[in-house]
Amino acid sequence: MHTPQGFEMVDGVAYATSWREIIFTPSMPYRLSHVLLSSGLTVAFLVGGLLAYRMLRGDHRPAVISGLRCAVCMAAVLGPLQALVGDLHGVNTRDFQPAKLAAMEGLWHTKEGAPLVLFALPDQQERTNRMEIGIPKLGSLIITRDLNGKVLGLEEFGDKIPPVGPVFWSFRIMVGVGLLMILIAWFGAWRIWRRQEYPGWYLRVLLGMTFSGWVATVAGWYVTEIGRQPWLVQGVLLTKDAVADLQPTQVGLTLSAYLTTYVLLLTAFVATLFYLSRKESEKSTVEATQL
Ligand code: HEM
Repeated sequence: MHTPQGFEMVDGVAYATSWREIIFTPSMPYRLSHVLLSSGLTVAFLVGGLLAYRMLRGDHRPAVISGLRCAVCMAAVLGPLQALVGDLHGVNTRDFQPAKLAAMEGLWHTKEGAPLVLFALPDQQERTNRMEIGIPKLGSLIITRDLNGKVLGLEEFGDKIPPVGPVFWSFRIMVGVGLLMILIAWFGAWRIWRRQEYPGWYLRVLLGMTFSGWVATVAGWYVTEIGRQPWLVQGVLLTKDAVADLQPTQVGLTLSAYLTTYVLLLTAFVATLFYLSRKESEKSTVEATQL
């Protein structure tokens, strides 16, 4: 849907001409590896956070300590790999979905030597940024590998641009969480290297990061899907042309039902995780006292 190929349109219907091309699209290698690395990082921080929770509750059994170290080392390796693949993914987006990339970067005007916008409040109506803070030329360097490289701005795409604010901010949340993950994991790996124990504050930071993988994943997904708008299939089918003829109340009801179900599942999931963590460490404390 982002880099479609391997089909032909006959009377407004898409027919497959090559399944190989449909599966192996130009963005597929980046998407697949970025999402697989996301899963690894999500699990590393989930396990790390829960084991840190157990340590904070006084469970210092060897399995808990080595499990925590294993999670930290995994994150220390996968974090930089994720940033590298994310960077290559961005270059692919530049080539195939430049409007999405311009929204991610908050660039309204085509520029040579474009800045890396760190903070801004994108104003879709006025087609400008408010309170922009950026680093000169760094945007061009990252996107084109050249300090004076030309980056296309949103002005090039007329009204075929996504809602800029959500894409811009989701991108910063994803990258921000990714960089935080690297920082935290590298600190933990450095402590292992120095054969030093983890201080209490570090365990609390890990606990705070327990669900960070989901936050970055959902933010990344928002960048990808909102960034593709107004297209449902990039350059082929507009979202408005694919909308079913349903009443807003029907859509509202279905959406509410989905949201309620997911909120219930999420609450049960989080409650179960921490219930099990507490239960096990209570058991181990009793065992340790009996010994
Ligand atoms: C650390 C720096 C990171 C960079 C530079 C980066 C870059 C990117 C880029 C350029 C996209 C593609 C948008 C598109 O063209 O569709 C993307 C999507 C995505 N990112 Fe990241 N990312 C980073 C970190 C992370 C982290 C830490 C996670 C999760 C743990 C993550 C999860 C995702 C997901 C799930 C998508 C959507 C992929 C898809 O549906 O195709 N990213 N990221």
